[in-house]
Amino acid sequence: MHVCIVGTGYVGLVTGACFADFGVDVVCVDKDAEKIKRLIDGEIPIYEPGLKELVDKNLREGRLSFTTDIGGSIRSSLVVFIAVGTPPRGDGSTDLRYVEEVSRTIASNLNGYKVIVTKSTVPVGTGRLIEKIVREERKEEHLFDVASNPEFLREGSAVEDFMRPDRIVIGARNEQAVAILKDLYSPLYLRDTPFVVTDIETAEIIKYASNAFLATKISFINEIANLCERAGADVHTVAKAMGLDRRIGPKFLHPGPGYGGSCLPKDTMALADIAGKLDYRFRLMEAVIDVNREQRNLMVAKIRRSVGELDGTTIGLLGLTFKPNTDDIRESPAVDIAMSLIKENARIKAFDPAGMENASRVLPETVTYCKDAYDVAEGCDCLVIATEWNQFRKLDMDRIKGLLRRPVVVDLRNIYDPNRMREMGFDYASVGR
Ligand code: UDX
Ligand code: UDX
Repeated sequence: MHVCIVGTGYVGLVTGACFADFGVDVVCVDKDAEKIKRLIDGEIPIYEPGLKELVDKNLREGRLSFTTDIGGSIRSSLVVFIAVGTPPRGDGSTDLRYVEEVSRTIASNLNGYKVIVTKSTVPVGTGRLIEKIVREERKEEHLFDVASNPEFLREGSAVEDFMRPDRIVIGARNEQAVAILKDLYSPLYLRDTPFVVTDIETAEIIKYASNAFLATKISFINEIANLCERAGADVHTVAKAMGLDRRIGPKFLHPGPGYGGSCLPKDTMALADIAGKLDYRFRLMEAVIDVNREQRNLMVAKIRRSVGELDGTTIGLLGLTFKPNTDDIRESPAVDIAMSLIKENARIKAFDPAGMENASRVLPETVTYCKDAYDVAEGCDCLVIATEWNQFRKLDMDRIKGLLRRPVVVDLRNIYDPNRMREMGFDYASVGR
């Protein structure tokens, strides 16, 4: 089977490399010639554990290739995955211009039956839109099917998530398209992965509903944490006890500065927007988004309370990415918090194991990037733990205390024990404890 993946971003690249590893012939296309050149040279533009090994192996064994020739790639493939970006517009709606552009290109290169699959997260109705574009603009009268096959990959464990998914969702109108996609995923079928086969609209909603529910859990526990602070309770014990109820489950109940990244913020906004367009006000989603936004301000207030006046202080920031094990800083709470602190005239020293290069593109030049956590701590009025990278979990706190100008630590990810920190003489604050 020949498969073409259009768009070699996060999702496209992981999908392409994993399908190739299943033994399928995969061509990954992107209009960004520079990116394709780097990929051909074996350079991986993103930080994703295990991805380079997978790309190298499948390039070497000839099942994976990279090109900018989108027309040729479509013509030689039975299945075309659309994995181009679907960026949010200012109002939270989704910009589908790239998906539309690719659909037109598919139409003009339709040289036989093909299955056109959306991998990108797209609003409900996009499957129909693609069908319409291809039907109206195809040069030759070949048959085709459109399908929705959303991804549920987490950054930092995307390869593992692809190879061991909780479920595969296939939305299509036609048995043939379903059969072809099932065949593509047959290695996972053998591993007893549950398949949910449904219509396109349902598949499109499943993706948003899943991400929106994860976001809801996070905003919920953050509000419980805010309540715990006021009541003198411990949110971790609350979360643990809640999680033991199997109907609730223990995951995604970790309090902190709120969710970030390229998916949850975008998808929650998009779902609220989709609902609005269908004449339904999704109040819960609006609240989830609102709570998440406000949580960042509460974290800045927490830091302000810990140091007194922010003006003229030096704040050390550990972590810049939206979560550990990625170099992604999109919608990162750490970056937002840094911006707010800078606005209040604090000087920022920062360290992140993977995100400094990306962060330096969006943060003001006044930020000092350090070589490790100890380098950050030196001379600071407060050390803020913004992302829970493993290397921040077991810092030599005696040494940190000696380096700080004042022994103030604000732990936004709750990775240290409050009693222990206070015993050591720190003025220690965390979230919901
Ligand atoms: C994806 C999905 O697009 C998004 O819907 C989902 O929610 C998260 O994952 P990602 O893979 O991170 O996003 O996208 P991005 O990194 O923006 O990559 C898209 C790639 O497609 C880029 O390399 C871009 O150059 C390429 N592209 C875009 C094309 O090749 N052709 C186009 O017309 C547009
Ligand atoms: C998410 C979904 O998990 C994935 O299924 C989907 O396909 C893409 O979006 P990702 O964006 O990689 O994946 O990050 P994830 O690990 O889900 O974390 C999202 C954000 O939530 C991070 O900023 C993280 O710090 C935060 N988070 C997560 C919490 O604050 N508390 C939690 O308990 C869990």
